[in-house]
Amino acid sequence: MNEKKATPHILHSYAAKKEHLIIGLMSGTSLDGVDAVLVHITQSGGEQFTLKHHYYLPYSKGMREKISRVCRVPSSHVNEILDVHFGLSHWYAKAVNNLLIESGYKATSIDAISMHGQTVWHSPVATPFPGPDGEFGVTGTLQLGNASVLAKLTDIPVISDFRSADMAVGGEGAPLAPYSDFMMFGSTQEGRIIQNIGGIGNATVLPKGDQQSSIFAFDTGPGNMIIDEIVSLHTNMEQLYDDEGKIGKSGKVEEGVIEHFMKDPYYKKSPPKSTGREVYGKDFTQTFIEKCGEYNLSFSDCVATATAFTAQTIAHSYKEYILPRYSISKVLVCGGGALNSTLLEMIQQRLPKEIEVTTISAYGIPDQGREAMAFAIMGHRSLLGEPGNLVLVTGARVPVVLGTITL
Ligand SMILES: Nc1ncnc2c1ncn2[C@@H]1O[C@H](COP(=O)(O)OP(=O)(O)O)[C@@H](O)[C@H]1O
Ligand SMILES: [Mg+2]
Repeated sequence: MNEKKATPHILHSYAAKKEHLIIGLMSGTSLDGVDAVLVHITQSGGEQFTLKHHYYLPYSKGMREKISRVCRVPSSHVNEILDVHFGLSHWYAKAVNNLLIESGYKATSIDAISMHGQTVWHSPVATPFPGPDGEFGVTGTLQLGNASVLAKLTDIPVISDFRSADMAVGGEGAPLAPYSDFMMFGSTQEGRIIQNIGGIGNATVLPKGDQQSSIFAFDTGPGNMIIDEIVSLHTNMEQLYDDEGKIGKSGKVEEGVIEHFMKDPYYKKSPPKSTGREVYGKDFTQTFIEKCGEYNLSFSDCVATATAFTAQTIAHSYKEYILPRYSISKVLVCGGGALNSTLLEMIQQRLPKEIEVTTISAYGIPDQGREAMAFAIMGHRSLLGEPGNLVLVTGARVPVVLGTITL
């Protein structure tokens, strides 16, 4: 067979170009909204990724509730999942179109949209399944957001479903951001940790040097999820998070509560490991609030203690699983948690003084833009026909090209 014909035309024309424009779209476990970034990629003298614009579209209360219901078992129904799958694409399209208006770029100049989608279920642990040749273990992941609807609403090709290909070759389908963390923040001068604090906290360890093979990543535990839930419950959804950590700053930390929840076996488990909304959702927060009640903590004390618990899970992970093996000079925090200065101070206090805790905004990337940027970079890799997974991070058998292209 003629090799050229075997490769879709879009891949040929993409690879032939010297510069590219990709829009990355991310909506994470916090269910707060959609982050959209426009990334300019040039090939001259090694790949350069430049963030041109970041646009954030917060979800309405109604939209947040729709997604939240779908994530909850057993209350979600297949018709509700379908509604979110197609309805979400309109939010994504709005984010893309507003990003284009604000940045002054035309849809025709954009090569592709890289859409992560909204994770509603992630199941990397095999579940018994009746296969055609007898029972086998099935793994899977589900990100909602219909690519065809988004492509039609924006008139731009869409790359989506990044995690499935990694799972198809035995990987956990996550985390996928470490490759682009390496491209954006890797240093030959010093060891760094990229600490994302979204709904969940996760760390990418970038040891000093240029070896992709030494990168590893894992979930440290909760991110903002417990803090958000306590604040939302107390304010009857008037406030959805602790803005800049002001409530936490005014409260007193109760170490007894932290010690109690640090007994969870998750914190004694070595990486690779991952956690999610399934663990730190509403039920966990209820238990946390009850424990705070045993110590007669006020609302602000409870928020302060939840903030310190998140900081402790992060510092503990470093001390147990990273610092004994690697020399680390900087922690670059990203995700919405980077805007909570009380949380940042608490992380710094719990780490050795020589490690500097800062945020990725100091490196020119908006705190909430990193994941959208990671998926823009991953989409670029896919359009070049190059793998986007790191097998030592996801556990996949082989590196694979990720995603599905919708024209
Ligand atoms: N100004 C702020 N002060 C403190 N926390 C904030 C602020 N803005 C956003 N956040 C936190 O960041 C979260 C969203 O972070 P994000 O990185 O988008 O997470 P995810 O990837 O899970 O969607 C919010 O739910 C909130 O907890
Ligand atoms: Mg978000």
